[in-house]
Amino acid sequence: MKKRIVFGAPMVGISDKPFRLIVRHFTKAPLYTEMVSARFYRHGMKSALKTMDIKGEKNIIVQLVGSDIPSLVYTAQAAENAGAVGVDINMGCPIRKPVSDGSGAALMKDIDLAARIAEAVAEAVSLPVSVKTRLGWKLPDEIRLLSPRLASAGISRLVVHARTKMQGFTGLPNWRALNGLSCPGVDLIVNGNIDDEASLNEALLLSGAKGAMIGRALWGEPWLLKTLETGQKSEIPVAETVMEHFERMLLFYGKKGLYASRKHLAHYAKHFIGRQNFCEQMFRAETSDRVRQLIKEFFTRPERGSE
Ligand SMILES: Cc1cc2nc3c(=O)[nH]c(=O)nc-3n(C[C@H](O)[C@H](O)[C@H](O)COP(=O)(O)O)c2cc1C
Repeated sequence: MKKRIVFGAPMVGISDKPFRLIVRHFTKAPLYTEMVSARFYRHGMKSALKTMDIKGEKNIIVQLVGSDIPSLVYTAQAAENAGAVGVDINMGCPIRKPVSDGSGAALMKDIDLAARIAEAVAEAVSLPVSVKTRLGWKLPDEIRLLSPRLASAGISRLVVHARTKMQGFTGLPNWRALNGLSCPGVDLIVNGNIDDEASLNEALLLSGAKGAMIGRALWGEPWLLKTLETGQKSEIPVAETVMEHFERMLLFYGKKGLYASRKHLAHYAKHFIGRQNFCEQMFRAETSDRVRQLIKEFFTRPERGSE
């Protein structure tokens, strides 16, 4: 079977360096970072610098969020210097904070600014520039006005979460709304609720997209990207994967990693019987040794399956 084109989605609080290094064990597919605030990065804020840490990694696309062109250009160039293979501009985030300063999904309401941003970033770097957006602010056909403008601005990939901003994460994604989208010279990538072979096939068929981006389904299943890419399942060393992810979280975040790991551990546990009991103990654990012990006991048992 021909390999499918798949991408790991940008997800704040999830697609950080430890997570990407774990996903990388299974696939060479391009992985997006969490969004990096261009303004914070330009002001040297520690958290933004840490989010941009892609040292030692391959095939990483850095996602930027912002609406201030000089900051976006500055941060895009920094991403290029850091070794990114692409830069993405977030034009779909529905969260109040970015939207209130004209970034994220707000750019769907200001197509002229969106196009100027895309053009300035594309001119400033020699990397391919992508935009990740939604179907529209309110209506699913708004993307039809935005996409040709972004194509003329020089982007090379358009990733569309097939919901509107107003929908947030509710309701079914409308993959079909992307069919026949005009974006000459731009690869269209469909996103939203793709979590297995069947949904991948359907999303690609209905949207006519060249590839797909996978987000939440990778949470607790970092091997899924490979399965979808190749159409083949393979034996997964789950216990080793979970333990390595936990150790990497500690290494990257220090003591904070103990708490930041909890959401990942709870998701890994969904494949195993006894998840609730494991989660109760794991959420109470206050030392890394206790968590290690729980991981060892829980993930090496044979009782796979959901309750
Ligand atoms: C926890 C979380 C964080 C997210 N952070 C980002 C982000 O930083 N940038 C972005 O463009 N989208 C972000 N998204 C949206 C995802 O990239 C994706 O578009 C969305 O989850 C739909 O795809 P999925 O159904 O495959 O998860 C986030 C989603 C979640 C659940």
